[in-house]
Amino acid sequence: MTVQQELQNQINSALAGVLGDADISSLAPETLRVVPTANSQFGDYQWNGALPLAKLLKSNPRALATQIIEKLEVPGISETPEIAGPGFINFRLTNEYLNRKLEEVSRDERLGVPHAEYSRTVVVDYPSPNVAKPLHVGHIRTMFIGDAIARLLRFAGHNVIADNHIGDWGTPIGMVIWGWKKFRDDEKFQASPLDEMGRIYKIVKTQTLDDKAILTEVRQETAKLHSGDAENLAIWNTLRKASLPELDKVYQKLDIQLDETLGESFYHDRLSTLVEDLKTKNIAEESQGAIVIQFDEPPHLRDKPMLIQKGDGGFLYATTDLATIDYRVERWNPDEIVYVVDARQSDHFRQLFAATKKWNLADVKLNHVAFGTILGEDGTPIKTREGEPPRLDDLLSEAQSRALEIARQKNEDLSEADLNAIAGVLGIAALKYADLSQNRTSDYQFSWDKMLALTGNSAVYLEYAYVRTRSIFRKANLEPQR
Ligand code: ARG
Repeated sequence: MTVQQELQNQINSALAGVLGDADISSLAPETLRVVPTANSQFGDYQWNGALPLAKLLKSNPRALATQIIEKLEVPGISETPEIAGPGFINFRLTNEYLNRKLEEVSRDERLGVPHAEYSRTVVVDYPSPNVAKPLHVGHIRTMFIGDAIARLLRFAGHNVIADNHIGDWGTPIGMVIWGWKKFRDDEKFQASPLDEMGRIYKIVKTQTLDDKAILTEVRQETAKLHSGDAENLAIWNTLRKASLPELDKVYQKLDIQLDETLGESFYHDRLSTLVEDLKTKNIAEESQGAIVIQFDEPPHLRDKPMLIQKGDGGFLYATTDLATIDYRVERWNPDEIVYVVDARQSDHFRQLFAATKKWNLADVKLNHVAFGTILGEDGTPIKTREGEPPRLDDLLSEAQSRALEIARQKNEDLSEADLNAIAGVLGIAALKYADLSQNRTSDYQFSWDKMLALTGNSAVYLEYAYVRTRSIFRKANLEPQR
């Protein structure tokens, strides 16, 4: 039983004693739950039920709380409960209880974490990169946060589908197709496909910024791909086939487990039927030659229609996302879809969720788990000397080589192979911990020194402390329990 359940049981029986057969069925059950305190100053857990109860029974909440406390039996769990403010009951766990509980938990396979009462099906959409561009530093956030969410949900007993919604059908891929025809280097592509695609993407991206005519040509290449042009489809296939295994290597290295990789291209055939359907149901309408969805609710979207088909017939990121929700509902009937995507896409997700509500597709909860940007020393989004976001592979190698230096300083007599093994674990752990220990929605400043510090709140410090405790056990000839 969890602490919360134990306290809840005590509250419930005290309540039964105080209330007798008063009818309280109109109260929402969650208003009567024991919850962790928002502020540890007030203890560890609190019960705020006296307020809604007193309101219902037209009595005084503090008096009611006093009556409940008189009947409450929590010896051995909590110090004497206290009444605060208008009638909150606060609990402070005793040290003996905490000790006993810790020991119990340390012997439990699941560390005392209960299984969810009701197992939900949750689709987690991450890391969903664009395949034409090399992975960069920003991708660590969707990977680490998304993976943490998927693991937590799985551990709690939910059915999780990690669905990698890769961008393999939009303008970036059109840019690479355009450049592929003009200046690809086959040898380089053989040797390292992602590097060659990255090189092409970068050149074309720069050219389109200077020359709008090139952007028009890129769009034509993308449109040709979408309409089934054999040559562009063949190039697209080559690019995709070469890049997916490279991406897989990164996921493996970071120990990220994905269940599906259904990219944007997968939904292409569904888009025109979808737009027709939305038009017939009067959810979408024509506006200046394009097809849009307008919103009355929520108010801040009133002047922000969502574009789902352009005047030239082309579909958009949003159209694909609508089709994706439809498909996920049909295939998995999820309780919830979680999108682990940069906060800069918040407007897109607000529109997408409002459109899905209008569409009345199914009772699925949609949740944008947004995250902040990683900043450089100067407080703007982190960049290399060339003005690009640092590439993920460079970041990982740097993490490992810095970790290697630290490992060497601390252990002069370890073999090179051992040092390398330690650096491999430590480098990635440092990055992961530094990222996950930040406030999720804020921007944060990237710092190698903090990340790899031997003191303070860092993975290196934690692992170092762990290794040292193990060595104490070893020297004492004791076998730790776990
Ligand atoms: N490919 C997109 C990007 O790199 C992210 C996709 C997120 N998922 C989604 N269903 N829209 O910006």
